[in-house]
Amino acid sequence: MSRIQAAITGIHGYVPEDVLTNKDLESMVDTNDEWITTRTGIKERRILKGEDQGTSVMAVKALEGLLRKTNTKAEEIDLIICATTTPDMVFPATANVIANKIGAVNAFGYDLQAACSGFIYALTTGSQFIETGKYKKVVVIGADKMSSIVDYTDRTTCIIFGDGGGALMLEPTEQDFGIKDSILRSDGSGEPYLHMKAGGSRRPATVDTVNNGEHFARQEGAMVFKFAVKNMADIAAEVMEKNGLSSDDIAYLVPHQANKRIIDATARRMGIGDDKVMLNIHKYGNTTSGTIPLCLHDYEHQLKKGDNLILAAFGGGFTWGAIWVKWAYDPK
Ligand code: UT7
Repeated sequence: MSRIQAAITGIHGYVPEDVLTNKDLESMVDTNDEWITTRTGIKERRILKGEDQGTSVMAVKALEGLLRKTNTKAEEIDLIICATTTPDMVFPATANVIANKIGAVNAFGYDLQAACSGFIYALTTGSQFIETGKYKKVVVIGADKMSSIVDYTDRTTCIIFGDGGGALMLEPTEQDFGIKDSILRSDGSGEPYLHMKAGGSRRPATVDTVNNGEHFARQEGAMVFKFAVKNMADIAAEVMEKNGLSSDDIAYLVPHQANKRIIDATARRMGIGDDKVMLNIHKYGNTTSGTIPLCLHDYEHQLKKGDNLILAAFGGGFTWGAIWVKWAYDPK
């Protein structure tokens, strides 16, 4: 009998309506459209506004679309894994909030936090539950409301991040499709360069932590850039080499959208042209766990059964990873 593989059988993304453009940011901090565009590739990003609106709001919208597209009832879902760095609350897990809102009464769920590599980690984890043969419908979500932890007086971070997310369905197949291989890495010595200092158990919220701006994401951009360029490119090339894939075999690179220059370096290292790179950073900025599912959503109609995709990400931790996916369906 052939091995059970975890096939992606549907994808759907969601971004909120409110747009924050580079022009808008010019009136908030000392920056300009030209600097942001040339240094990052970002033109605008989406912001989730309104009282009591958390990451689950976007995840539920994405999941509703996914269930529609895959003709699935919420009760059929076995497991929901939500990759996020901006959960609705510290606990309970946002995956449980999502399950409750959508009526996934037979699912268990949990969150996974690996910063910008969260979706890659969650997809790898979710695929194992299918490959064991134990579960039939696993939903993997990547969503973040980065605007909830961005300091809009800090020009080094506020130009980068946006809100959004997506959800995909994993189901078993005995055909040669699905999550073929993945490589995941982390290095905790990256902590000083990209983190949110307070709000965890080490520095719980106090008046001082709030006044000192310690509940915002902070990064040493140039340092993170240096690690990201090398590691994301290396790991994408490594998963190809390990599986004997040449650049001609690859239909698309699906890169985490943190900076267009990091994406370009990864594509160069893989030996593929711009036409094979999924790109939407100009529209959404860096949505952390949301970038890869949002790319798959935007390019879904161009993907064909059997296409080889390389998903790659780098983020806080540091964390990084790459996945080889063989796409399982033609455009519907
Ligand atoms: O998502 C996962 C992890 N995150 C990333 O992968 C992000 C990685 N880092 C980056 O994408 C880039 O480092 C940034 C986009 C954050 C910054 O670009 P950079 O080319 O590395 O700029 P820099 O930090 O080296 O700063 C260069 C100059 C500095 O001015 P001086 O010291 O040369 O006078 C900054 O103060 O640019 C200045 N600067 C800005 N100028 C206009 C920094 N931010 C801005 C800004 N507008 N928004």
